[in-house]
Amino acid sequence: MINWRMEEKGFDPERISHVGNKFLTGNGYMGIRGTLPEYEKEQFVAVNLAGIYDQVGDGWREPLNAPNGLYTYVQFEGKQYRLPGGTPLLHTVSLDYRHGVFERTSSWETPKGKLTVTAERFASMREKHLLAMKYCIRCDGEGELLLTSGIDGQVWDINGPHYNEILLQGDEDQVILQAVATTHESKDQVVVCEAYTADFAAAVEPVREDRRILRRLTLQVKAGVQYHIYKYVSVYTSKDTSEYLKQAEHLVRSARDSGYDRLMEQHREEWERLWRISQVTIEGDDQAMEALNYSLYHLHCIAPRHSDHLSIAARGLSGQTYKGAVFWDTEMFMLDFFLFTEPGVAKSLLKYRIDTLEGAKKKAKHYGYQGAFYAWESQEGGYDACSDYNVTDVFTGRQMRTYFKDKQVHISAAIAHGIMRYVNYTGSYDLLAEGGAEVILECARFYYDLLLKRVNREYYELHDVIGPDEYHERVNNNAYTNRMAKFTFDSAVFLLKSLTDLGSQVEERIKRGYDIERLLKQFSDASGKLYVPEPDPVTGVIEQFDGYEKLEDVGIEEVRGRLLHEKEYWGGAYGVATHTKVIKQADVVTMLNLFSKEYREDILLKNWEYYEPRTEHGSSLSACMYAILACKCHMPDRAYPFFMKSALSDISGKGKEWAGLIYIGGTHPASSGGAYMTAVEGFAGLHTEEGMLKATSCLPSHWTRMEFHAICQGRLYRIEVTQKDSQIMDLGELM
Ligand code: BGC
Repeated sequence: MINWRMEEKGFDPERISHVGNKFLTGNGYMGIRGTLPEYEKEQFVAVNLAGIYDQVGDGWREPLNAPNGLYTYVQFEGKQYRLPGGTPLLHTVSLDYRHGVFERTSSWETPKGKLTVTAERFASMREKHLLAMKYCIRCDGEGELLLTSGIDGQVWDINGPHYNEILLQGDEDQVILQAVATTHESKDQVVVCEAYTADFAAAVEPVREDRRILRRLTLQVKAGVQYHIYKYVSVYTSKDTSEYLKQAEHLVRSARDSGYDRLMEQHREEWERLWRISQVTIEGDDQAMEALNYSLYHLHCIAPRHSDHLSIAARGLSGQTYKGAVFWDTEMFMLDFFLFTEPGVAKSLLKYRIDTLEGAKKKAKHYGYQGAFYAWESQEGGYDACSDYNVTDVFTGRQMRTYFKDKQVHISAAIAHGIMRYVNYTGSYDLLAEGGAEVILECARFYYDLLLKRVNREYYELHDVIGPDEYHERVNNNAYTNRMAKFTFDSAVFLLKSLTDLGSQVEERIKRGYDIERLLKQFSDASGKLYVPEPDPVTGVIEQFDGYEKLEDVGIEEVRGRLLHEKEYWGGAYGVATHTKVIKQADVVTMLNLFSKEYREDILLKNWEYYEPRTEHGSSLSACMYAILACKCHMPDRAYPFFMKSALSDISGKGKEWAGLIYIGGTHPASSGGAYMTAVEGFAGLHTEEGMLKATSCLPSHWTRMEFHAICQGRLYRIEVTQKDSQIMDLGELM
């Protein structure tokens, strides 16, 4: 039996940011950091909203945090009892990650005896616009208690404030409070309604502070009696519906009528429904099972189930880090989990890319290319939020010119790969028909325009790119990028040859838009002639890019020892890793995972052995790639520590929090997705052969059994894997 409860005892102000990530709750529409009800913006409170952004002046465009309708604190006998000030007698926060319920209990010594506050809350998985909280107070002695609660519009922003104004109003008896916040850029509105009920009688008075609308309940508490209030909070934006104000109010009223327990029951039912398909059972290793399912919990919290064309940001819904933007992380690291357990969500992630194709075409045009160059950091409409200066130099305080946006051209191939993965796994052409076909063709047109041919060479090259390893900028013939571009050409050729299978309407649409014969010729030629670095005949190692071999070969610890400042950036013009073979994250190894069938196992292994000691794993995307390739080399025990590193990334909180002087903390959904891929596709070896699911056991030696479900082509399967063999049971068609 594993423990579905994550808990931390004791209060440490240094851990506020980490606890906020680790105890996050969410439902895809919003993410609520694991902060306490009395916390304010200084403690990084965030009700982070999916897919809605704002920019103030020249600051970075970032997602919105809604006004915090959970805000609540107590005062007893004239003194406030709240964290982070003062030292509590006892303090515990916990997360039931089976059901997305966050709880805190704190006790303080007061002149009248012990005062204990317990608060439990959830972001409803049933009703995506709703939060609910139960707040309970108990004191050993009698006295006057003031309970202040309402909406705090002083939100935490990295590049804000994002609201020009916040209109606050309450009804006469202060039962329903409302905040309507208007953004700078596009005058979007975010409305938060809050209503409460209490199981005690109290005098109620309104409290108005700057950007806060609150009410204060005053009561004389009796010793040993528990007093409860229940809070219901609805959040809507003007992007959701034109009736957002009405709906927000309607929702809190109906939530209040339903009552906390009923809402909790529905919320739990919804989580149970998700786990019925997504839980992964591991026998012989409870820690691994807990860490893995905790990772899946995070993926569930950020899955955009309320939309059919929204994606997931690199830091999920844990705040404004990385501008709330969508990176290649989604297609390459998170997609498989949803593909196997909730294909509807997988489709929505990819439809976001179809919707943002125009933005990608604009970006390509901006650089003088045809086709689609997707945003490295994509916001709505495909707007590239990546700045030309994405890192601040710790020594001068000046911004450093980085080329992630201009040169990480592998992003377009990641999207083509995601679409083809969906098509091949589901066996359905629906996504291609709904615009995926154009995405692939436009990505291929983009790479075609990037090809270079030297006069005295037969083959084509790709120059001046950045591969997954961001420490080496503007290199030529990055093996990963070239192979992915070739994949894109091959996908486009496949598509152009299968037009009749897509239905006559799609066929006509494509024929109207493109010169099929010409493209077929161009893309076939490009695929055949694009240079992909080969394994060295002696060492078997594939050179990451032209000239990598000549860089200084030095250990990671030695490079770390050269740092003059702990937050110094390792890459860029004069970073400590730039002139060495030390790389940030799996690069060639990622390529080998994707195309492992094209290489002999000894080549896979030689590259793993070569690159691993040279990889800093400075990105949370790195460890899982080494774990998966280790499984492909039949080394599950060597894969295991890399798997655990991925699965534990948000529990341990050891991920990098700074890139130069830029804060990059938050949750790590790509790492969670990578842990899933390692378990299911690595250790259980799940794959398809001609549309049929197959599994090949490669369990770590201390695991005795794994069990999980997967949806494939509309049917549900149960997969059981032991050390000796694997079984796949067809549980029938999904209703
Ligand atoms: C990594 C990228 C990744 C991004 C967002 C960076 O540190 O190098 O590969 O896409 O973080 O997770």
